[in-house]
Amino acid sequence: MKQKTVFVCTECGNKSPKWMGKCTMCGKWNTMEEEVISPAPSGGFSLAPTESPKKIKEIDETNESRQSTGMSEFDRVLGGGLVKGSFVLVGGDPGIGKSTILLQICEFLGKTSKILYVSGEESPTQIKLRAERLKIKTENLKIYSETNMNYVKNAIAAEKPDIIIVDSVQTMVSPEIGSSPGNVSQIKEVTATLMRIAKDNNISIFLVGHVTKDGAIAGPKILEHMVDTVLYFEGDNQQVYRILRAVKNRFGSTNEIGVFEMESSGLRQVANPSEALLSGRPDDSPGSCITCTMEGTRPVLAEIQALVSPTNFGNPRRMTQGPDLNRVLMLLAVMEKQSGLHISSYDSYVNIVGGFKISETASDLGIVLSLASSFRNRALDSGIVAIGEVGLTGETRSVSLLEARISEAEKMGFKTCIIPYINSKRLKKFNGIDVIPVRNIRDAINKFL
Ligand code: TYD
Ligand code: MG
Repeated sequence: MKQKTVFVCTECGNKSPKWMGKCTMCGKWNTMEEEVISPAPSGGFSLAPTESPKKIKEIDETNESRQSTGMSEFDRVLGGGLVKGSFVLVGGDPGIGKSTILLQICEFLGKTSKILYVSGEESPTQIKLRAERLKIKTENLKIYSETNMNYVKNAIAAEKPDIIIVDSVQTMVSPEIGSSPGNVSQIKEVTATLMRIAKDNNISIFLVGHVTKDGAIAGPKILEHMVDTVLYFEGDNQQVYRILRAVKNRFGSTNEIGVFEMESSGLRQVANPSEALLSGRPDDSPGSCITCTMEGTRPVLAEIQALVSPTNFGNPRRMTQGPDLNRVLMLLAVMEKQSGLHISSYDSYVNIVGGFKISETASDLGIVLSLASSFRNRALDSGIVAIGEVGLTGETRSVSLLEARISEAEKMGFKTCIIPYINSKRLKKFNGIDVIPVRNIRDAINKFL
């Protein structure tokens, strides 16, 4: 009998009986993939009621116990440790360090829990070599190189682990589904099977997922809906710092990040990211400005570098790495109009050192000052930190959590903090750092450059 198939969009999950070049729902191109319709609904939970509705106070929250991974940076991203029975998806580019970090946390987790590490990517020997480099000695870790989900299920039944690591979702296959590994239906089925195992037996599961070129975990968005927590491991392969970020977390905030550094013996936690991001900063070089951005509850100082140079071609080139390009384009237009610097006919490049990404508008003033510094070819004093949003008329606008940011700058030994005027009225006194309010970008540029 011919198998019935349907085409599913890998971006939004839209279904269509026929193949289409462009998804009618989300409008993305080349995202429709063929998927076999499985005979019985396999994913999801059973419909039979197992428990009756409860009042909030009747619900026992003590079974949401948290377990430390032994790495405080990892715990922070999870929202204070691993919740028992939770399902965590760890996404990231190939080679970024997903397998490494998951193997590393086994050492500490292995003190209290039995762990099963299922790898569809590496042989037991490869994993052993890696474990030796990482100095993993725990007796409670078992390695299983297998891609067939039926065997994996059997192994789980036999080993009864407390924690399972599956590396990676793209390599696993459920033989009942007649499509190749990595296919949408396979990914969904594998995830659903593991989810059931996690919830039925109160086992915590880490599932590794590789990320496609355009940054989404391969497979439909539906994968993110199914799991409890989605962590992304990011940072350039060439760069030393790796950032673990929660993009979804049913058990904590999604603003937290963990910073790591890849060394020859594995990933090392960077407890003080400000210090790391600022190391190696050249003195007295034009085009550099420090700003302070909030990553969740944690202030992080980052160095913004700008390079402004005459345009060789008709249109000036603008590029950013770290900040949003559109934001920088807007700031360039504001500078042109409101500060008297004729910067719009120049090429401009803006980079955040260390592969760090900035999404907060509080770094606007830092971006403006670094651009102006490069444009005028005058260095800012190296003891300056600039914090503030910039509006379209060139005015500085208030930012949240300013005191935490200034304290971080003070702690890191900076001497001057430039802040929006509007924030200066209700601000506690700082002794170790001069806090200088500015009303607009013209003020700031003329005063400090
Ligand atoms: P890996 O964890 O295999 O990445 P992923 O599972 O996300 O694909 O990381 C592999 C990279 O990390 C590889 O390029 C080698 C490097 N590495 C180190 O620099 N030091 C180490 O101790 C280990 C284990 C890996
Ligand atoms: Mg790997």
